[in-house]
Amino acid sequence: MALEEIAASGHRETMSDVLNKCSPGQGDDPAPSRSALDAEAVKVAYRRWAGVYDTVFGGVSGFGRRRAVEAVNALPGTNVLEVGVGTGLALPHYLKTKRITGIDLSGDMLARARERVQKEHLDNVDALLEMDAEDTTFQDDSFDIAVAMFVASVVPHPRRLLRELKRVVKPGGHILFVNHFLAPGGVRGAVERGMARASRSLGWHPDFAMESLLPPEDLVRARIQPVPPAGLFTLVTLENI
Ligand SMILES: C[S@@+](CC[C@H](N)C(=O)[O-])C[C@H]1O[C@@H](n2cnc3c(N)ncnc32)[C@H](O)[C@@H]1O
Repeated sequence: MALEEIAASGHRETMSDVLNKCSPGQGDDPAPSRSALDAEAVKVAYRRWAGVYDTVFGGVSGFGRRRAVEAVNALPGTNVLEVGVGTGLALPHYLKTKRITGIDLSGDMLARARERVQKEHLDNVDALLEMDAEDTTFQDDSFDIAVAMFVASVVPHPRRLLRELKRVVKPGGHILFVNHFLAPGGVRGAVERGMARASRSLGWHPDFAMESLLPPEDLVRARIQPVPPAGLFTLVTLENI
């Protein structure tokens, strides 16, 4: 995350500073995230960031978000669940034929999303609900597609998130993630591991490994596409079987 952007916003504290202060430290996931947070920590963090999120984080993540929504639009099925919908930056980009339900833990982020829906007359957004993506109240097989943009490395238990999305998406439906993932090896991987030591000041976690999210049986069958221009983000598409 560009430090210049954060500095320009007048915020000396980075997102990671806020999250680290709130972090409970331990997670019970088999492959715990480096940025493990409990629900209260997420709410506190995003309460502080809701007002400046679009300015500070919206630009750099725009390519990944647009690519994920394009992928959703190209898939069959109507009912889409967007988890960690945040301020709703993706919402205007869905085809009007897709019906969107957005959920987020942060009421403050959701308030921004609701303003956007109203201002831009996004009639295809059916609901914006305060809910934990790892433990939703939806019935089994409720959606054709679930998409999580820049959320997998924020939730405390990424594998639990994946399990829940598999439950609420119909068999044959699709689950998509866009995120920054640790490069598997080579020079970039080494650089990112080094950068992880500076994650507090960077404001994001360069060392979030795809294996923290996907078990080996899903890793081999997932469609994995780097997002241009720099391949900093990756789009992962998984058919729900
Ligand atoms: C980095 S922001 C991404 C927001 C949006 N997807 C975007 O592309 O701009 C992460 C979002 O995930 C939400 N979040 C974190 N943990 C969550 C959870 N367990 N359930 C639902 N939302 C969660 C946060 O409140 C925040 O709005």
